[in-house]
Amino acid sequence: MYLFVDVLREVKNLAGSALGVAEGKICFPENFLFGVATAAYQVEGAWNVSGKGESIWDSYTHNHSERIFDHKTGDVAADSYHLFREDVRLMVELGVQFYRFSISWPRILPNGLINNINEDGIRYYHELMDELIRNNIQPMVTMYHWDLPQYLQELGGWTNPIVSDYFVDYARMLFQNYGSKVSAWLTFNEPLTFCRGGYTGLEAPGRLESSGIEDYLCGHNVLRAHGMVYRMYQKEFQAKLSTSVGITLDFLWRAPASRSADDIIAAETARQFSIGWFAHPIFSKTGDYPPIMRKRIDSISKIQGFSRSRLPYFTPDEIEMIRGSADFLGMNHYTTFLVSKNRKKISPKPSYAADMGGILSQKSSWPVANSTWLKIVPWGFRLSLNWIKREYDNPLVIITENGVSLEKGLVDTRRIEYIKEYLKSMHAAITKDNCNVYGYTYWSLIDNFEWTRGYSERFGLYEVDFDSPKKTRTPRLSSEYYARISRTKCL
Ligand code: NOJ
Repeated sequence: MYLFVDVLREVKNLAGSALGVAEGKICFPENFLFGVATAAYQVEGAWNVSGKGESIWDSYTHNHSERIFDHKTGDVAADSYHLFREDVRLMVELGVQFYRFSISWPRILPNGLINNINEDGIRYYHELMDELIRNNIQPMVTMYHWDLPQYLQELGGWTNPIVSDYFVDYARMLFQNYGSKVSAWLTFNEPLTFCRGGYTGLEAPGRLESSGIEDYLCGHNVLRAHGMVYRMYQKEFQAKLSTSVGITLDFLWRAPASRSADDIIAAETARQFSIGWFAHPIFSKTGDYPPIMRKRIDSISKIQGFSRSRLPYFTPDEIEMIRGSADFLGMNHYTTFLVSKNRKKISPKPSYAADMGGILSQKSSWPVANSTWLKIVPWGFRLSLNWIKREYDNPLVIITENGVSLEKGLVDTRRIEYIKEYLKSMHAAITKDNCNVYGYTYWSLIDNFEWTRGYSERFGLYEVDFDSPKKTRTPRLSSEYYARISRTKCL
């Protein structure tokens, strides 16, 4: 069995190894890792069981049910808190090498601070990890998948720099408790989504009225927190532990809507405003925001009459801390958008969309999934991976999420098609373009609570009957297909 760290050490470049088309089959190397993912709030349920504290998603779904498509909550979800052994059994059936899941911060630290530890929470994740390890499945843990302790939100959440310090305390506890069991860590999942969605949109805490400042402030404190955790890990744990630490960023491909120079520039700007916002400080040589983001937000802030740029500045020490603070880049990829230049005059109302300056759309001819935003566009995957390779000098990448939502039902041939086509695109990026990708995670193991879309969107390889008290899991066709891939490493 290959551990992430071994792969990281050994496989600096997978291309040229046992990859390629064997007997007419598309194959990945033997040490390429296949896994599945979930996140605490989306599957665990048990929202107030055994001392767990309230998270911002608990309070958000309880107080703003009108903002959730089906008015439901994650109070019970797929009940994985009680059914985790069943989940591991499904993973054994799938033959996956790792399981990416998240730890709920308030389950371990009910108000987020380390002076109040919930022993039952600590126990729960030990039991889950032990069960995985007993079955030869490596735990890959996300420290933060959006469920901030509500207590910290009352202090301003990620807009308050003190929350970054509390996050470091929490992360230290995780390394102390679970360090020897976890193969790979992700500090954050999709900061672009939770900072933008939380401070300009419908994700918790749901600050709909954008100040044009808070989303950038959130991103700034998240980047600081990430850098602080990575340096703390290097100083206090790296020598003792056989693990690796990265971050998961979402990169939905941005392609120019036309061949015009304006649209080509708008698409590149949109990439820098999406993945670049978080990847550039960590993975480029500069340790800072993408220059185009800096330039646009500084000048637009000035035009809008702000006395300081709405995008905060890092101190020289912070730049040093953040630059190079990851062993690998976790990438979530689902779909593609087209970008055209926004020709409207700069709006006096400050907003990310105006700063970015592009208009996003999708082609109506692209095959649809069961999500408002997810069209099936496999070629965008290869382009995204190539862009990362060029932009950040071919870093080690693990795909931490890729998947599709479809309507309820067990015969999900379109999911099988999606997986096949996206994996082909990824395979081409590895074999033909030399991109350093060494693992792939399907989202999701089971159907779950899809945030503001409630239970209306199903991404699972296994269907969950949310109406049954037992939350019965039933295999879909795609689970057999994925099991073959994860076992044989061939499509
Ligand atoms: C990204 C998020 O990390 C995950 O929580 C969500 O369910 C999937 N995308 C699908 O939208």
